[in-house]
Amino acid sequence: MTGRYTRVAIALPGRVLTALAQGSTGFLLLTLVLATTARTAAAQSGIRDYQNYCAECHGLTGKGDGPSCLTIAMNPPPSDLTQMARKNGGKFPFDVVVDSIDGRKNIPSHARLQMPFLGTTLQKPGQEFTPESDAEVKKRIEAMARFVESIQQQ
Ligand code: HEC
Repeated sequence: MTGRYTRVAIALPGRVLTALAQGSTGFLLLTLVLATTARTAAAQSGIRDYQNYCAECHGLTGKGDGPSCLTIAMNPPPSDLTQMARKNGGKFPFDVVVDSIDGRKNIPSHARLQMPFLGTTLQKPGQEFTPESDAEVKKRIEAMARFVESIQQQ
C-alpha cells in the first residue's frame, strides 16, 4: 500500500512537469506563430502601400522608372530607391526614408512637393492626428520603409 502511494507521489510531479513543458512549448509555438503573422502582415502592408503610393513614380522595383515619369516631367526625376544604402556608405538610412515618406518633417522644397505627404494623407478620416491614427500611420510608413530596405542593391 505504502509503495503504491509513493509511486503515485513520484509519478504525479513528473506528469505535471511534462504537462507544463508541453503547455509552454505550445505557448512558445503560438507566440512564434503570432509574431511571424504580425511580421508578415507588416510586410504585406508595406508592399501594398508601396505599390499604391510609390510605384507610379519610383517603379515597382524602385528603380525610379514608374509610369508617371512618362507623363509628368519631374526635375529631379524620382530617385532610384534601390541605391539608398549604397549612397549612404552601405547603411540603409531607415529614418531618412521614413521622414521622406511622412513628409511632415521636411521643409517643403519645390522638388519635395512632387512626393505625396503620406504622414497627412494616410490619417484616419475624421480622426486625423489623434494618437491612434498617428500610430497607425507610423506603422504603415515604417512598413513601407522596410519594403524599400528589402530592395536595396549593392
Ligand atoms: C509623384 C511622384 C512620386 C511619388 C508618388 C513618390 N515619390 Fe519619392 N520621389 C519623387 C521624386 C521626384 C524624388 C526626387 C526629388 C525629391 O527629393 O523630391 C523622390 C525622392 C524620394 C526619396 C529620397 C531619395 C534620396 O535619394 O534621397 C525617397 C526615400 C522616396 N522618394 C521614397 C518614396 C516612397 C517610399 C514613396 C511612396 C510612399 C514615394 N517616394 C512616392 C517622386 C515621387
